[in-house]
Amino acid sequence: MVYLVISDIHSNMEAFEAVLKEAEGFKPDVCLFLGDAVGYGADPDQVVLRLRRLGNEVSKMFAVRGNHDKVASGIEEGWDFNEHARRAALWTRRQLSPTNLSYLRRLPQGPVEVKKGDVQIAHGSPTDEDMYILSGYHAAAILSFTSHRITFFGHTHIPVVYELLDGKVNVKVPAGDEAVIRLEKEGWYLINPGSVGQPRDFNPKASFAIYDDEKEVVIIKRVEYDVEGAAEKIIKSGLPRINAERLFVGR
Ligand SMILES: [Fe+2]
Repeated sequence: MVYLVISDIHSNMEAFEAVLKEAEGFKPDVCLFLGDAVGYGADPDQVVLRLRRLGNEVSKMFAVRGNHDKVASGIEEGWDFNEHARRAALWTRRQLSPTNLSYLRRLPQGPVEVKKGDVQIAHGSPTDEDMYILSGYHAAAILSFTSHRITFFGHTHIPVVYELLDGKVNVKVPAGDEAVIRLEKEGWYLINPGSVGQPRDFNPKASFAIYDDEKEVVIIKRVEYDVEGAAEKIIKSGLPRINAERLFVGR
């Protein structure tokens, strides 16, 4: 089975379309969405609509909510957000159609099981949906007691694979446009596909992952997209300029 793994689209339709086009070549059977469909960007309604359509194009889709999805759909008010994130989230709330708003509202809290005892998805961490996993130390703590061999997570917008193997944590940082990472049978994994719509690893290209559970391989892919177009829409919508500027540098 081939899984398309996407996270943190953040209302960036240009990046989302580029990722879906590139992913077609892998013929994914299942889609795993790790949260934050909206926030920051200018196309929330279009992105949620496309995400819902994607659910009909694959044989199965698993999804969890992100912190921006919670604020945009009114589950939370975003008092812990910085100013430009909160302004965009509240703006997003006014842009969403009632159907799309209720889709976001009904996204489940992670972790969500994908394959019994083997694969699960979470937005931040399997222990706390809003927590950022940013270091090998943190990953080691989670990997030592997690219930599933493979956890796909997002939230940090940084693609990475943490591997617990033979009592050691290996941090694998993907480089280039197509990083192929082989999974060991005895290994335990925390895997972040990176962000579709707002990468923060100083690489502005959109990021996603393909997981093949027969070959036991994860591919982290980067694709170019129309950054200028996405940035221009953000500025025209009156959203904070920083949300547009950061797309050019990937931070
Ligand atoms: Fe995010």
